[in-house]
Order: sequence, then C-alpha cells, then structure tokens
Amino acid sequence: MMQRLATCICVLTIGVSCLLAMSARLPLRSAPSTDCVTIFLTGNELGALQPCGCSSGQLGGLDRRPAIFNSVPAERRLIVDTGSLVDGDNEQDLIKFDIVVQAFNLLDYDLVNLSGEDIEIAKSHGVLDNIASVFDVISSQVDDETDLPTRFTKQFLLKEKVVAVTVAAFDPESMPIEQIGELFVSQPGHQTVNMLILNSCTLEIVGSIAEMEIVDCIVCPPESDEPEVMSGQYDRPLVISVGRFGKYVGRLQITAAEDVNELSYSFLPVPVTEDLTQEKSLVEVYKAYQQLVKEENLLERQPRFTLSNGLEYTGSKSCKSCHEYEYKKWSGRAHAHAYATLERVGSHYDPECIICHVVGFEYESGFVSEQKSGEDLRNVGCENCHGPGSEHIRTLGQALTTEPMSDCTDCHTSERSADYAENEQLYFQKIVHWMEPNSVGGVKK
Ligand code: HEC
Ligand code: HEC
Ligand code: HEC
Ligand code: HEC
Repeated sequence: MMQRLATCICVLTIGVSCLLAMSARLPLRSAPSTDCVTIFLTGNELGALQPCGCSSGQLGGLDRRPAIFNSVPAERRLIVDTGSLVDGDNEQDLIKFDIVVQAFNLLDYDLVNLSGEDIEIAKSHGVLDNIASVFDVISSQVDDETDLPTRFTKQFLLKEKVVAVTVAAFDPESMPIEQIGELFVSQPGHQTVNMLILNSCTLEIVGSIAEMEIVDCIVCPPESDEPEVMSGQYDRPLVISVGRFGKYVGRLQITAAEDVNELSYSFLPVPVTEDLTQEKSLVEVYKAYQQLVKEENLLERQPRFTLSNGLEYTGSKSCKSCHEYEYKKWSGRAHAHAYATLERVGSHYDPECIICHVVGFEYESGFVSEQKSGEDLRNVGCENCHGPGSEHIRTLGQALTTEPMSDCTDCHTSERSADYAENEQLYFQKIVHWMEPNSVGGVKK
C-alpha cells in the first residue's frame, strides 16, 4: 500500500513539473530546450467519431481532442495514432475513413500507423498516397505493392541534449524478432527513445523484445477501452495499450531527470470528457460526415431481412383505433419522440443511429427513410416491443402479437443508456401505458 502511494505521488510530481515547464513562456525560436516531451497516443478509433449523445457522461469525440493536445506546445509534443481507424469495410466505414483522415489533419497528427485493414481501405479508395502526404505514415503491413516506411523519427531538445524519438511498427507474426534491431539506429551523442507498435503481443514476444534491451516502450493492441500500463510502471520496456473508441488519449511523458542521463517515463490515460471544448473546425467535419451519409442514401440501401409468415409492420397509429388508451399514454413519452431527437442532432439519415430510434429498420416493411416511410414507423413505436402487428390486426386481436420483439436492454445498453441497469424499475415505471389493474388485455372498449 505504502509503495503504491509513493508511486502515485511520484508520477504526479513528474506531471506537475512538466506542466510548469510548459507554461513558462519560452521564446518561440527553434526547438527550445525543455525537460520533458509529451507523446500523445491514440488508436483503435474503430469508426467512433463522436459519442452518440444517448446518455450523459459519454467519453470521446475527435472534436474534443484539441483541448488535450493543445495543452502542450507543438514543439514539445508528438501526436501519434496507432491505427485501426474504422471497424469494417462497408460504405459507411469508407466514409468514416475519409473523415478520420480529415480530422487527423486538422488535429495536427505527426504520425499514423496504418493497420492492414487501414491500408486495404485506403487502397480500395485510391487515397493511400494522399494520406501519406497529409501526415507521416508507418506500417508493419507492407508488401511488394505497398511501399510505406516502418519507422519515423523526430528530434527534441531535452536539457540541451538531442533526444531522437523513433516510433516503429512491427509484425511479430510475420517477421523474426531479431529484425527489430534494424528498426532503431542510434547516433553518437544522441539520446534515444525507441517505441515499438506491435500488432500482436504475447508475454513471450514482449519478453524476447525486452531481452534485446533496445526498445523503451511497446504499444500492444488494446484489451479495454481505457489505455493501460501492462508492465510495471517503471519497467523498461514500458508496455502500454492505448484503448479504444477515442474515449481516452494516452499521455506518455518523457522527462529528463536533474543531472542524470536517464529519461523517466510516465503514462496516464486522459479521459475525453464532455466538458472539454469542442473545436469548431472538427464540429464542421462531423456535420460534413452527416451530410455525406445523407447524400449516399445509406438508409435506403441498407440490406433488410424478410419477416417470417408474411408478417408486416403497420406503424404505431394502426394500433390506435383499438388501443386508444395505450396509444395516448405512449404518445406523451420519450419513445414517441425518439426520431425528433435524431432530427435535432442531424443524425436521422445515419443507419447506425436510426436502428434504435425507429420501428423495424432491419426488416422489410419497417422504417426505410423520411421519404419512403410514413410518420408511423418513426420513433420507438408499439411494434419495437410488441412485434409486427399485421396478423394481430387482421384477426382483430385474436392472433397474439409475435416476434421479433425487442427487450429494453437491446437498446438500453450500458453504452447508450448508462443509468438503465441501476434503475430498471424506474425506467419501467416511466413507460407504463397499459391499463391497470383489471382491464382484459389492456384493451379499452
Ligand atoms: C443501441 C441502440 C441505440 C443506438 C444505436 C443509438 N441510440 Fe440514441 N438512444 C438510445 C437509448 C436507449 C436512449 C435513451 C437513453 C436513456 O435515456 O437512458 C437514446 C437517447 C438518445 C439521445 C438523447 C435523447 C434525450 O434528449 O434524452 C440522443 C441525442 C441520441 N440518442 C442520439 C443518437 C445518435 C446520434 C445515434 C447514432 C450516432 C444514436 N442515438 C444511436 C439508443 C440508441
Ligand atoms: C382491431 C383492433 C385491434 C388493433 C388495431 C390492435 N389490437 Fe391489440 N388487441 C386487440 C384485442 C381485441 C386484444 C385483446 C385480446 C385478448 O384479450 O385476448 C388485443 C391485445 C393486444 C395485446 C396483448 C395480447 C398480445 O397480443 O400480446 C397487445 C400487446 C396488443 N394488442 C398490441 C397491439 C399493437 C402493438 C397493435 C398495433 C400494431 C395492436 N395491438 C392493434 C385488438 C386490436
Ligand atoms: C428500439 C429501441 C428501444 C427499446 C426496445 C426500448 N427503448 Fe427506451 N428508449 C429508446 C430511445 C431511443 C430513447 C430516447 C428517446 C428520446 O428521448 O428521444 C428511450 C428512452 C426511454 C426512456 C426515457 C428516459 C428518460 O430519462 O426520459 C425510458 C424510461 C425508457 N426508454 C424505458 C424503456 C423500457 C422500460 C424499455 C423496455 C420495456 C425500453 N425503454 C425499450 C430506445 C428503446
Ligand atoms: C418500450 C416498449 C414498448 C412500447 C414502445 C409499447 N409497449 Fe405496450 N407494453 C410493453 C410492456 C413491457 C408491457 C407490459 C406488459 C407485458 O409485459 O407484456 C406492455 C403492455 C401493453 C399492453 C397490455 C398487454 C397485456 O398483456 O395486458 C398493450 C395492449 C400494449 N402494451 C399496447 C401498446 C401499444 C398500442 C403501443 C404503442 C402505442 C405500445 N404498447 C408501445 C412495452 C411496450
């Protein structure tokens, strides 16, 4: 316990002293000497451009990153993304890929490590060369056709000494580990910081690399959304991961200690919280994304399942004639304006949002689009929870409503509805629309 506490305080002290050095006004001539340099590390965005806003307290948003990056002057920081910009290769992923690249440009990224999937998408788009002209790019996934560098170096002046920070990408599954030595060159008189981004990590791999005593910091694929130190806080190499979905920015601070030739490392996850200022230009980039999603008409081109037994969605209003009481109750509640909510934030053309905010989007006869569907299929309607109503209505209520029916937790996930799990009863109370206690089937005669 005592030891833990001591570690904590020490890390904090390093953080504070570096911040103080940063805020001291130094003349903006060529690379002023300082005692620490900050490497901001992000990665595994997996298409998460911005939190959905479904629930308060969500972390993330490309447009909030400047508030973190700009806490350190450009000449004393390195901004690196470790790759996996999107989560697939469908049309929406392609749009997102372009958007992330635009955003990284505005965010002043120094370096992006492209994963194999990133390269595939960039190639299929014909934009690989463009990307490499926007920021430096490295990758371990190079082949005869793809000629990308595997390492990148930038120099800083720390306590009047040149420190060369090298970031290299390596694929231990396709290359012998001995080759790592060739990625890092040392120059006489320069201190080095050698970082290695791996696309797969095992204890064995990390152990063998550690034995080589070349690498200072290894970045492994994420095991959680939050960046982590996977080795001991003071181990060398320091083994870290950068998290997922842009919820955090990893801040690796490298400090030159007083009178010592050693550099000390501290790594902390910085949460991308709602109270950080949104950068205007990046807010515009997200709007451009919404516009592209609309123009590409993704909603209407979504693949759809056929319902079994010829069932069809009929829309919430079709229930009104026989269930007027329920209809009125439902109308006054949150579910009945779930579509308006999307309109308000401009995401009503986005399939990734629509799916939980309308009726039957994944099925034929369900909601298609503003143009193609009546208002009755908008919102979280009766048939989201009770199933498609055609047969029930045709038989004047004799045939019970049937699957597919959604459970609350299909939509109220921990991500989208953080409060739900702890307040299930309260949520349920808020949607009561059936007659209680004694009316048969809740039907108002
Ligand atoms: C998995 C289902 C699901 C998806 C997908 C989804 N939402 Fe939601 N959304 C919800 C739920 C559930 C709530 C209500 C959460 C609560 O109040 O606990 C909600 C609420 C909201 C709200 C807040 C309504 C308010 O003012 O109280 C906004 C805004 C919103 N969603 C926007 C979006 C956007 C934009 C997207 C797409 C990027 C999206 N949603 C995708 C389920 C979803
Ligand atoms: C033509 C009149 C009529 C319409 C329209 C109608 N219902 Fe019903 N519904 C009934 C009757 C009658 C019962 C009672 C059946 C019973 O008590 O066995 C009933 C019962 C139900 C029940 C409870 C039994 C069950 O099937 O689970 C649900 C839920 C229900 N209706 C939902 C809906 C929904 C949703 C719609 C619109 C898609 C709808 N109803 C449209 C007449 C109707
Ligand atoms: C098809 C997706 C979906 C399903 C299923 C669903 N919800 Fe929702 N729920 C939403 C969305 C979307 C919102 C946000 C609506 C808005 O405000 O725009 C919401 C909002 C709510 C709200 C309002 C929250 C608030 O604080 O005002 C409550 C309460 C709620 N849901 C309860 C439930 C319960 C209980 C169930 C299960 C019986 C359920 N929901 C099933 C999508 C769903
Ligand atoms: C968010 C999900 C949800 C939505 C939306 C919803 N219901 Fe319900 N409904 C329920 C739940 C949960 C019950 C509670 C009884 C149960 O467990 O079946 C219920 C009960 C009922 C009952 C009484 C059933 C019985 O067995 O007594 C009727 C009728 C009904 N709903 C009709 C409607 C109609 C009509 C609409 C649209 C205007 C609607 N519901 C919208 C979830 C929903």
